[in-house]
Amino acid sequence: MNMEKKKRILTGDRPTGNLHLGHYIGSLQNRVRLQDEYDTFIIVADVQALTTNFDRPEKLSQDVMNVALDNLSVGIDPEKATIFIQSYIPEIAELTVYYGMLVTVNTLRHNPTVKTEMQQYGYRDVTYGFLGYPVSQAADITFCKADLVPVGEDQLPHLELTRKIVRRFNDLYSPVLVEPQALLSNVPRLVGIDGNSKMGKSLGNGIYLNDEAKVVKEKIFSAVTDPNRIKITDKGNPQVCTVFAYHNSFNSEEASNIQEMCRAGSIGCVACKKSLTSALEKMLEPIRERRKYFEEKPEMVNEIIRIGTERARSVAVETMAEIRAAMRIDYTCIDSGRK
Ligand code: TRP
Repeated sequence: MNMEKKKRILTGDRPTGNLHLGHYIGSLQNRVRLQDEYDTFIIVADVQALTTNFDRPEKLSQDVMNVALDNLSVGIDPEKATIFIQSYIPEIAELTVYYGMLVTVNTLRHNPTVKTEMQQYGYRDVTYGFLGYPVSQAADITFCKADLVPVGEDQLPHLELTRKIVRRFNDLYSPVLVEPQALLSNVPRLVGIDGNSKMGKSLGNGIYLNDEAKVVKEKIFSAVTDPNRIKITDKGNPQVCTVFAYHNSFNSEEASNIQEMCRAGSIGCVACKKSLTSALEKMLEPIRERRKYFEEKPEMVNEIIRIGTERARSVAVETMAEIRAAMRIDYTCIDSGRK
């Protein structure tokens, strides 16, 4: 019998709306592939979502369910993966406070992802919670001693911070924590249908995993193409065309052929968009079907989340005891019964 313990992965999303094709190729697809080989933890990071949605609490519970459904519908198997809700693991909050002692404010201020997001949200000043969310993310990753964190490039600064905190903690107290590695998906970032360099939830330029076929088609047909190509016989430049970027990501079999025809002016944008739409549908249809299956069984989804959260919690309780012992905050005058 193979007694070797599986390595653990932690990854996840903020529940701030449905997930889109950019999430799919950037991380979900990878997640599904990895769940067979790794003990996979998937965090629904609702506390992190509060950093930008603290004034809209009514949005959150719907989005928590949506993100869980998105994961299940792309093929995350609850028998293999542990889906859990961040706010239900109080040890993450506790760890965040302790880690807060090991990170300076300047380090947080220089985090490039945080800076970009501040600009994107138009924040001139920033809350303590927002500035500190990478510290909380370090707690997400380390409470379960994750070995690997599959993420997109924008998350790398957070992972570097996590690794720094782990090294500092282990040096200062005792080697309790595991230093995680990033597992970068090597796909290029997906552009939005408006040609913006990023498909983003808050940019309104996404194709969502739960968009109906009709909506997907409309979005593809409204997507920006090579602006210099006016007549069908004009020679196109696929390098600047959103639709071609999607062919590359979702229609790899035909992409090079389409590229040649576009350059030669022998395929029009309409035919090109039609071919993309059918390639996308081939991929999206099974995802929609699985979504429907789970949507019709909300009790089952609740159970999946409940069991996942319970499992994550028991792991957190164990790690927390080790951490408190390492930090000597397990005082004998009071700790006899603490778990
Ligand atoms: N920051 C991630 C995002 O914006 C979500 C997230 C929260 C996460 N905690 C995590 C990702 C831990 C990887 C590991 O999508």
